Amino acid sequence: MEIIIQPDAESASRAAARVVARLLREKPDAVLGLATGSTPLRLYQELIRLHREEGLDFSRVTTFNLDEYVGLGPDHPQSYHHFMWSNLFDHLNVNPAQIHIPDGLAADIQAACAAYEDKIVAAGGMDVQVLGIGSDGHIGFNEPTSSLASRTRIKTLTPQTVADNARFFEGDEAKVPHHCITMGIGTIMAARCVIMLAFGSGKADAVAASVEGPVAAMMPASVLQHHPVAKFFLDEAAATKLTHAPYYRWVYDHKPGWQHDV
Ligand code: PGA
Repeated sequence: MEIIIQPDAESASRAAARVVARLLREKPDAVLGLATGSTPLRLYQELIRLHREEGLDFSRVTTFNLDEYVGLGPDHPQSYHHFMWSNLFDHLNVNPAQIHIPDGLAADIQAACAAYEDKIVAAGGMDVQVLGIGSDGHIGFNEPTSSLASRTRIKTLTPQTVADNARFFEGDEAKVPHHCITMGIGTIMAARCVIMLAFGSGKADAVAASVEGPVAAMMPASVLQHHPVAKFFLDEAAATKLTHAPYYRWVYDHKPGWQHDV
């Protein structure tokens, strides 16, 4: 794992964007795994800026999103379809036919989940998967005790996640769907590179447990200790509970130039 601690969420997001930009310049038809929530917004803003100002080309990219609420259609303002279009896709030249987001209105959810997995495989797998982390350590909507080998499926959100996400539903927990479709932890682990973004003190415990604690289904993000190329981009607040933060800073500061943005 690589732990990159930056002074603030902006600089951490810019550093993560450089990794994505470098991938796209080397592999214009890359497959990107994308995430929703407040955390990746600055990364998406930076990718939009790179597209507008530096011509970063997304025309040959394929995307797969991590998850979607069951019962919310693409027009629902809190659906992840809506989130992705308004915060990213509307501002880039991604081919709409190459965008994949789980269908929260699928009549046969199990079949839709299996088809989603098949599409990821047919596309060659994710070159990079962007992740946020829940305060309970979830990745995607893989809540504690999710199988570390799981694949795309329907899950039930924990009360903690329902409470965390109520802010997007006028603060009303009753409006937050209780079910979601999410890529599994096994699906995420198959990505060739993982970019984890975590900002703010509310994520500090989950970050420390994931990076320095034991690998455990109770802390789904800890599985990233098994990933060959997992990069954690943190702001200072999210890094406060890391015992070895000085060591991570030392490693990053002494990284050979050629290794940056890789
Ligand atoms: P957040 O959510 O970015 O809105 O904090 C992260 C997550 O739940 O994965």
